[in-house]
Amino acid sequence: MKLNKFKLALSNYPTGIVCVFSKRKKLYEAILVNSFTSVSLKPPLVLWSLDKNSSKFNAFKNSKDQMIVLLSKNQKKFAQKIAFNKDKVSDMELKKILKSSICSLYCTKLKKIKAGDHFTFFLKIKKISNIKTLKPLIYYKKNFLTI
Ligand SMILES: Cc1cc2nc3c(=O)[nH]c(=O)nc-3n(C[C@H](O)[C@H](O)[C@H](O)COP(=O)(O)O)c2cc1C
Repeated sequence: MKLNKFKLALSNYPTGIVCVFSKRKKLYEAILVNSFTSVSLKPPLVLWSLDKNSSKFNAFKNSKDQMIVLLSKNQKKFAQKIAFNKDKVSDMELKKILKSSICSLYCTKLKKIKAGDHFTFFLKIKKISNIKTLKPLIYYKKNFLTI
């Protein structure tokens, strides 16, 4: 099956957008992700998949604690910055990001599975920050939209 056909088919499926953070020394590594989904309620588990060819692969492949931030419609510029330019944020920057995001899931890695050209992380949610009633950022047909 052709890769373009696969990409075209899946581009018709709208997804939310999250930013995954992992603290390394004093800065947070950050990656924009739309492969995030929930897995289990009891215990509360989620997953996302990391591209083995990503420039952020080394930063995330062994990260144990991860924070998953659900992005709001007000964070389109931030999403583009993280996806295409900047990939590390300071404590101060993170505080600002959290103010305009929907909520944060504080997770620890349960297991990692190699699948094709990705690694899938299964994560257990330890804590959820206060959830705001903001509209989500959505990815659909290569565009950032909202509802
Ligand atoms: C909307 C969107 C969703 C993405 N979702 C994922 C994902 O689920 N997993 C992943 O490893 N990379 C994902 N990426 C790509 C990473 O954000 C990527 O590492 C980043 O764009 C840097 O690109 P580079 O690896 O070419 O340097 C996504 C990018 C965009 C724009």
